[in-house]
Amino acid sequence: MANVLVIGSGGREHALAYQFALSQQVNKVFVAPGNPGMPLSHPKIHCVDIPVNEIASLCQFAQEEAVDLSFVGPEAALAAGVVDLFRAEGLQIVGPSRQASQLETSKEFAKKIMEAAGIPTAKYQVFEQDQLDRAISYAKKLDYPIVIKEDGLAAGKGVQIVSDFQTAQEVIPSSLAKGKILLEEFLEGNEFSYFALVNHQQVIPLTSACDYKRDQDEDQGVNTGGMGAFSPVNWVDSKMETVILEDIVAPLAEEMCRQGIPYTGVLYVGGMVTREGIKVIEFNARFGDPETQVILPRIQTDFYDLCMAHLHQEPIEVEFDARMSLGVVIASQNYPYESAKGLDVSDFKSSDLIQVYYAGVSQEGERLLSDGGRILLVQSMAENSELLRQRIYDYIDQRSNPQLKYRKDIGLNRERREY
Ligand code: AMP
Ligand code: GLY
Repeated sequence: MANVLVIGSGGREHALAYQFALSQQVNKVFVAPGNPGMPLSHPKIHCVDIPVNEIASLCQFAQEEAVDLSFVGPEAALAAGVVDLFRAEGLQIVGPSRQASQLETSKEFAKKIMEAAGIPTAKYQVFEQDQLDRAISYAKKLDYPIVIKEDGLAAGKGVQIVSDFQTAQEVIPSSLAKGKILLEEFLEGNEFSYFALVNHQQVIPLTSACDYKRDQDEDQGVNTGGMGAFSPVNWVDSKMETVILEDIVAPLAEEMCRQGIPYTGVLYVGGMVTREGIKVIEFNARFGDPETQVILPRIQTDFYDLCMAHLHQEPIEVEFDARMSLGVVIASQNYPYESAKGLDVSDFKSSDLIQVYYAGVSQEGERLLSDGGRILLVQSMAENSELLRQRIYDYIDQRSNPQLKYRKDIGLNRERREY
């Protein structure tokens, strides 16, 4: 029986740990640092008090506990080089090297790879910190809206959609003050996320998901880490999946190999179906949060076997539950501006039809208390989306209170938007 280490502490890592715990091959699942909600969901799950960026300690732990397989959740650990270190020590780990994870950590790197691989994406220009005048005069010539992006990792906060030149004149200097920026064409269409496991040129297709990024119903309010998700996306049909795999994932994998930066790990394609076809908005070098919490429960293939087939480039057919999987995030009232500590969320527990994935929680005696912006996610699956929404929202309404915040429209209006 194998021991597994999941690196990270949020809802995504809880879903990963739980999926490993369900595997017949797995004995213990360690999560570093994890959160106190995780071990409540399965007796195989244990938290280890090591932060995600202390990669030497993580590596030492994996060696001491005879960990057979590690899985990286957050981009911060990738950027700290955890995969490079584990591989150098001969440890098996799912995730890209630090160099390959630039696909996420540098938007300019991603754009250059896409250009070289012929992958369709929004038109853009890069501006260095000392090129304010050039950036402003370029912005003057553009059609609006445009998108202003900071180049590096900005935890989802580095992107602004700007509707006119006057606003661009205000936003560009403050964005440039932080570093290099990209000015980018605004893509109109239907957004989706698609996930695959890529190891050099081997691609194991997974599935699609849709994330709700704004904090309020009907996509009003500000961007967050994600307020809910569903999978699969009804309009990412098999024809579209083929296009995503053939025109985006395969050429990307090939180009990364060609440039001597082979990619191994989860590839997250953030895309838009536009009038001119599918275009890539961004790549991430990891699973999404909260997308993971709705995708993993659909995977019927043993998750340990799946990760091993990925790492050893062996063929595997991944079986998915065809039902719709939906997840609603419960956050603290002032998320994403403030997090709240100490709200009692002990009533949110998994039951027959409901799975609860914990994120920002702490423990006091028997009680689970909030300890962060996104506190937990309530997930379930059903064939009928209305029944599913009803089941999830009934569960939440019975336990919620005004200090908690959640969107009421997750899974509603899943139709393809006309534009
Ligand atoms: P990113 O940090 O690149 O994921 O961007 C965050 C969000 O901003 C995306 O999920 C999109 O909803 C939106 N976005 C980013 N770039 C574009 C674009 N070129 N056109 C339209 N929307 C965009
Ligand atoms: N849910 C979006 C992300 O994980 O980047």
